[in-house]
Amino acid sequence: MEFSIKSGSPEKQRSACVVVGVFESRKLTLPAELLDNASGGYLADIVRRGDMEGKAGSTLLLHNVPATLCDRILLVGLGKEKEFREKEFASAIRTAVKVLNETGAFDATLFLTELQVRKRSIAWRVRQTVIAALDATYKFDQFKSKKEEIRRPLRKLTISVERRNELAPAEEGMHQGLAIAEGIALTKTLGNLPPNVCHPAYLAEQARTMAQTLQLDCDVLERDDMEKLGMHSLLAVARGSHQPPKLIVLSYKGAKANEKPIVLVGKGVTFDTGGISLKPGAEMDEMKYDMCGAASVLGTMQAVARMALPINLTVIVPATENMPGGNATRPGDIVTSMSGQTIEILNTDAEGRLILCDALTYAERFDPDTLIDVATLTGACVVALGNVATGLFANKDGLARDLQDAGDEANDRAWHMPLWDDYQELLKSPFADMANIGGRYGGAISAACFLSRFTRKFDWAHLDIAGTAWKSGADKGATGRPVPLLTHYLLQRAGKLN
Ligand code: BES
Ligand code: MN
Ligand code: ZN
Repeated sequence: MEFSIKSGSPEKQRSACVVVGVFESRKLTLPAELLDNASGGYLADIVRRGDMEGKAGSTLLLHNVPATLCDRILLVGLGKEKEFREKEFASAIRTAVKVLNETGAFDATLFLTELQVRKRSIAWRVRQTVIAALDATYKFDQFKSKKEEIRRPLRKLTISVERRNELAPAEEGMHQGLAIAEGIALTKTLGNLPPNVCHPAYLAEQARTMAQTLQLDCDVLERDDMEKLGMHSLLAVARGSHQPPKLIVLSYKGAKANEKPIVLVGKGVTFDTGGISLKPGAEMDEMKYDMCGAASVLGTMQAVARMALPINLTVIVPATENMPGGNATRPGDIVTSMSGQTIEILNTDAEGRLILCDALTYAERFDPDTLIDVATLTGACVVALGNVATGLFANKDGLARDLQDAGDEANDRAWHMPLWDDYQELLKSPFADMANIGGRYGGAISAACFLSRFTRKFDWAHLDIAGTAWKSGADKGATGRPVPLLTHYLLQRAGKLN
């Protein structure tokens, strides 16, 4: 889909479709009112008759409205005006784009972006419009032999802004939105790919291709390299699999060479059977999503490079399968991590932390300004926060606050969880420096505590996306989260969040 920005009045648009909003209890928005005035009360009449009450999610398509230059008008219900916030704004855009895709219109002019959303800027509204529009039309059908054809898909969306002095920030918001939306799409696709296709070598190949197209530095460590570095914790997870593990490193340099990088580490378990501590069979297919942390940091890297942000960013992905097998790690095995700390592996299904800890130690060599890891780490996080918020942990409160704000700004919320020392006791082992599990209660926290033992040298945050990275059920699929949160945090850090 192509996007452009324009400023003009709705009744004068020569467009296949003009899209305007109606609030609940039948209140026309300003652009709708302008159309209504031009057409001699045509819209008000329809609304009065009850055909469009303004309920959120409702739409009404009108043809040949008098005294307008467009072929159609799409009315979009916005819900209660008082409750119209960031989330409602994005939903309205999604609804509009989905309907536009099913009408005959190839192009449309959208007046919903003119709507005020609390204190959100024009750049914010345009950015969110582009992200929501592209997200709503995302499809993953590469394995369907018969694709569902959209007869006349929407090709061009013109976003209208109220004033001419809004054109420049709107343009910038549009370009950022495009980059972020493509990052989200990449993340979704990597997540959705089946685990026989998307294995560690596939992720490494993706990273190499990204490096070429975006001029990034790329380095892939092989099993031998990991052995030399002493990454025995990561290697312990990879033992059961016939797929060799990879440690992928991508670097983007948008700032001065001596500026410390922000480092993102993403869990890349391309399939998690649990290993010898085998998972139950029900819904085990969903463990193909156990590389969504990796997918999200790659998607974020792509977006940052496309936006050419003036920051240095390094992405690290430990990638492996977690499989049972004759050579697999046993519960009770003790390994020495790259940091030198020993780990008693009591449950081979707690493998995420085992691969992350070595990646975190490896990250020290980049001297991170800030390090954020992203992982589908614990079922316990899903129990705690459901599918709404990502679990957020940090060894610095300011960083937690910044990430939480970025999530709010991006419609991709995270919730700050405790990381008090009291929880560290859960990881005691009688035989090694620590166990890899912390017992039944507080599982998301004890997992974060485990990681905290490998991140003492830098400011660090951990995002547990087990509940937010994908949706189950009928419209199953990767969500692309937390790419919106991460990209907004990095926009903020780069001073480009307008
Ligand atoms: N990948 C899973 C976490 C997970 C579970 C994500 C369900 C999404 C849905 C992780 O590797 C895992 O298996 N964690 C265990 C840890 C436990 C053994 C301490 C879990 O959460 O059950
Ligand atoms: Mn597991
Ligand atoms: Zn896992």
